[in-house]
Amino acid sequence: MKGSKGFMTINKIMVVGSGTMGSGIAQVMAQHGYEVILNDIKPEFVERGLQSITKQLDKAVSKDKMTEQEKEATLKRLTASTDYTDAEDVQLVIEAATENKNIKLDIFKKLAEITPEDAILASNTSSLSITEIANATSRPEKVIGMHFFNPVPVMKLVEVTRALTTDDQTAQTILDLSQSIGKTAIDVTDSPGFVVNRVLIPMINEAVFTVYEGVATMEEVDDSMKLGANHPMGPIALADYIGLDVCLAIMTVLYEGFNDSKYRPCPLLKKYVEAGRLGRKTGRGFYEYA
Ligand code: 3HC
Repeated sequence: MKGSKGFMTINKIMVVGSGTMGSGIAQVMAQHGYEVILNDIKPEFVERGLQSITKQLDKAVSKDKMTEQEKEATLKRLTASTDYTDAEDVQLVIEAATENKNIKLDIFKKLAEITPEDAILASNTSSLSITEIANATSRPEKVIGMHFFNPVPVMKLVEVTRALTTDDQTAQTILDLSQSIGKTAIDVTDSPGFVVNRVLIPMINEAVFTVYEGVATMEEVDDSMKLGANHPMGPIALADYIGLDVCLAIMTVLYEGFNDSKYRPCPLLKKYVEAGRLGRKTGRGFYEYA
């Protein structure tokens, strides 16, 4: 089950960031036999991540998708950490921390010093340049993007994003690892929004424009895309699910990265972010959540 088909054998991984994405990544990795250290800045954050993983595994057991023994074995492979020095014997770090450039650059710089020389450093960033992150480290050839989709246990894709400096061995190892956890990986070069977000987020932004311009209500836009395009979720509901601040940040990266007005963020999207209505995570975005 483990990713030993590539050039390098991965057994032990640190996941930095125990929020929705980090805990989802840690869960999937542990379910597929990897030893995972889940790291965050505060013990209570890590504890919350581990609790959400336990809840997901309990659900899987109750649906007969996993045995109680498999659940226990998965949980045993997960350990909590608030100290980067716990990564001194890992073969891979997957960073899924806050989407803030300076925070990420700092994490990568520190982890490059602590981890073994040949360990790979991957980022789950959805909008930042992998090449810039790589350049903050002492070994830019070992830095790569590993972009997962929410909810991680359900979504089948991983975008494996090569920085300008990433070597082939690193890319192949991560492509094989992605396959070993039951995902389909695409091999992409570092470009604003990569593939999925470059296509998906402008679609969401355009949906917000149709509401902004009074073409239809948000419910009508969502129903239209569910019934007319077979999307599992309407684009406005999906924006709330992703987080409106994240959608705006990705639109801004596309707008500035391509210097093209077709990526202009909708003023209504900006207003919601300014109002702190960021979607499900704040209890209110375009829709309200109990
Ligand atoms: N974690 C784990 N499993 C989950 C889950 C979660 N958070 N949410 C739902 N599931 C599972 C359910 O347990 C269920 O599993 P089952 O088939 O074994 O019973 C299955 O997914 C279907 O869930 P539901 O029946 O509750 O509801 P839906 O059928 O509506 O599915 C959904 C929910 C999977 C979220 C679906 O609506 C969907 O695919 N929506 C689109 C999601 C999407 O586009 N994600 C990508 C966002 S972009 C991104 O992440 C990139 C970033 O950079 C911005």
